[in-house]
This record gives sequence, structure tokens and C-alpha cells, in this order.
Amino acid sequence: MTCYLVTGGAGFIGSNFVLYLLRAHDDVRVVNVDALTYAGNLENLCSVEDDPRYAFLQADIRDAEAMAAIIEAERPDYVVNFAAESHVDRSIEDPGIFESTNVGGTVNLLNVCRAAWEAPDGGYGEHRYLQVSTDEAYGTLSLEEPDAFFAETTPLAPHSPYSASKASADLFVGAYGDTFGMPVLITRCSNNYGPYQFPEKLIPLMIRNAVHHEALPVYGDGLNVRDWLFVEDHCKAIDLVLRKGRLGEVYNVGGHNERANIDIVKTIIRLVSERLGDPEINDGLITFVEDRKGHDRRYGIDASKIGSELGWRPETTFEVGIERTIDWYLAHAEWVESVTSGAYQAYYEQMYGHRGAAADA
Ligand code: NAD
Ligand code: TYD
Repeated sequence: MTCYLVTGGAGFIGSNFVLYLLRAHDDVRVVNVDALTYAGNLENLCSVEDDPRYAFLQADIRDAEAMAAIIEAERPDYVVNFAAESHVDRSIEDPGIFESTNVGGTVNLLNVCRAAWEAPDGGYGEHRYLQVSTDEAYGTLSLEEPDAFFAETTPLAPHSPYSASKASADLFVGAYGDTFGMPVLITRCSNNYGPYQFPEKLIPLMIRNAVHHEALPVYGDGLNVRDWLFVEDHCKAIDLVLRKGRLGEVYNVGGHNERANIDIVKTIIRLVSERLGDPEINDGLITFVEDRKGHDRRYGIDASKIGSELGWRPETTFEVGIERTIDWYLAHAEWVESVTSGAYQAYYEQMYGHRGAAADA
């Protein structure tokens, strides 16, 4: 049986990954370790709560003692690090927590894994550590050169405190591979969308606001471009890289699905309006607001390496994925309200009888 330790498994991509693993593999154990910040919600995982192959432990990846105890008790084959502060706007407001969680947390996790896994002869057996990173580490592309893409060899040139912290963590992961021979892998993915994304990010925020007839805040001229990938395709890519990727390598993951923000917003307006039969949901809700500081103009991923080496390609077209996402959000209005209202903490206390203890492993 393969044991995955997934950090940040109560967040958007992490919870989709936990659900994906339990669907895709019978002979598996999945241990979800999450600090449950505002972005982590165990409600995402209520469908697998009683699955004997799944366990949740509340802990902070910066806590060396707790993480060492968990690794010691669970003996995972793979560690997949999703845990992070992930919102660019928050990183502009408060960069320090991004350095602490994304850089410090990653280094702590690397140290704990190394201490648990390194044999006296310097080998690491079959263990693997995968760092879930982002295309934002590469910086920005321009709209004037639409044929230029980020490759794995593109130099890291981050602009926001968020992307600087992710790039920095990637450098540590690479360094632990080079220096200590650790079995590390890095994936750098483009923007994800799909169920369970916290409604501070573009797509779920616009769906939520459209439903409530609230203003849809578009930064700057709305022409910034992101390369959107349905979250399940990202989950499949991570699992594939973990199992079959070459150690020490970076794999880009992306959808070749570049769209300007304003086009995304207009698509959401049209689809939500159609589904709710509500003509008041229209382009009049669009409100251009002050641009984000240091706003990267364009992201575009060259994912040919993971395609040619591992046979991965995106399976969900944007047309299908955005409809599935909108339908999910319309059917889960309570989830949206609870994660945005603080009601989630009340739910947790009711379910577990306490605010959560660090791993009692
Ligand atoms: P998210 O904000 O939805 O979830 C982050 C999770 O990490 C939450 O469950 C949170 O409780 C947990 N967490 C935060 N700090 C922690 C700590 N100190 N210890 C333990 N757990 C902690 O983020 P997401 O969008 O799911 O992104 C997951 C990862 O994927 C991040 O590393 C992010 O950089 C990367 N990524 C995201 C995207 C995207 O489009 N969302 C794209 C590429 C890469
Ligand atoms: P976001 O979802 O925050 O992801 P990232 O910044 O990591 O790419 O933002 C996606 C794009 O949408 C980005 O160009 C900023 C823009 N945006 C808006 O125009 N309005 C908003 O309210 C938000 C949250 C984002």
C-alpha cells in the first residue's frame, strides 16, 4: 500500500487531490495534514471522513516537533506539499506570513523528511517529496509576444511577495536535492479553477458576486491573461509526476488555455445569468477598479515536457470545466457562505468538539 502525506489537504487543490487519490487508487492511505487557516475547510472532505484509507491531522508545517511525530507515526512513502498562503492580494497586504509559511514551512518539512528518510549510506529508499509550485515563480510574459511561454528552463523572476516566496521555496527544494541527494520533484502549474476554491480568487469571487448582484471588480484594464486549468487535471499531473517523474526534475503543468480576465468575467456573467434565468446579472455589474500593484501581465505555460515524458495532457476543456465549476458553486451556496462568514469554525467545533489539536499522532 502506498501512503501519501498531503499537506494543505483541506484547501482548494489539496482537497481535490485527496478526493482524487481516493477515487483513483484502492490500495492507498492518504494522511491530510493541515493547519486549518481561513483557507482550509474540512467540509470539502466530509464525503471521505469515514473512509478507513483517509486520516486528518491538524498541524502546522512550520512545527518541527509535530511534523516529525506525524512522519514517524505514519511513515509516508510520498510527501506532497500544498500547504501555503496562496493569494497574491493578501501577500501585498502582509508579506511576512508568506515568507514564514511558504519558505520557512517548506524548509522545515524538508528537514523533517530528510531526518526521517536518509539512510546511513545516504540513500532515501523509495521515498519522494513533491513541492507543488506555481508558474508565477517565472514572473511575467508580455501580451506583445503571444508565442513566448514559460519553460522549465525559464529563469525564476517573481514579482509579488507570494511568487517570491514560492520561488524561494523551490530553490530550497532544489538545493536539498543537489546537496543532500533528497528525492525531490517540483511541479509548476498555471491558474487552477474548479470546486472548493475560496471565493477570494477571480473565478469563485465573480460567481458569488454575480449571484448576489454585487459589483464584479476587474483590476486595471481587465486585459491581464492567465492560463486556466481545471483542478482535476492538475491533480492527475501531480500524481503522475510523483509516481513516474524523474527525481530532481521540474515539470510545468498548464492548459494552453489563455484568457483575458475580462473575457472570463463576461463568460461567468452569461452562464450564471442563463442558469438562474436572471437578466439583472449582466455586464453592467462589471466595475473596473485600481490595478493590483506589480500585476503580472500574462502567464502562459509550455507543458510539453510532462506531455512527452509522462503522457499527461489536460482532459477538461475550459468550456466544460467552467460550466461544471459554475454548477458546483450554484449548488453549494451554503459552502460559499460558510467559508466566507466564519461559520466554518463553528462547524468544526460542532463536528470535532474542539478547535483542533496539533497532531496527536
Ligand atoms: P489554498 O489557499 O486554497 O489552500 C492552502 C491550504 O494550506 C489550506 O488548507 C490551509 O489551511 C493550509 N495551510 C496554510 N498554512 C499552513 C501551515 N502553516 N501548515 C499547514 N497547513 C497550512 O491554496 P490552493 O489554491 O489550494 O493552492 C495549493 C498549493 O498549490 C499552494 O502551494 C499554491 O502555491 C499552489 N498553486 C496554486 C495554484 C492555484 O491556481 N490555486 C496554481 C499553482 C500552484
Ligand atoms: P487570482 O485569482 O487572484 O489569481 P493570480 O493572481 O494568482 O493569477 O487573479 C487572477 C487574475 O484576476 C489576476 O490577473 C488578477 C485578476 N483579478 C481581478 O481582476 N479582480 C479580482 O477581484 C481578483 C481576485 C483578481
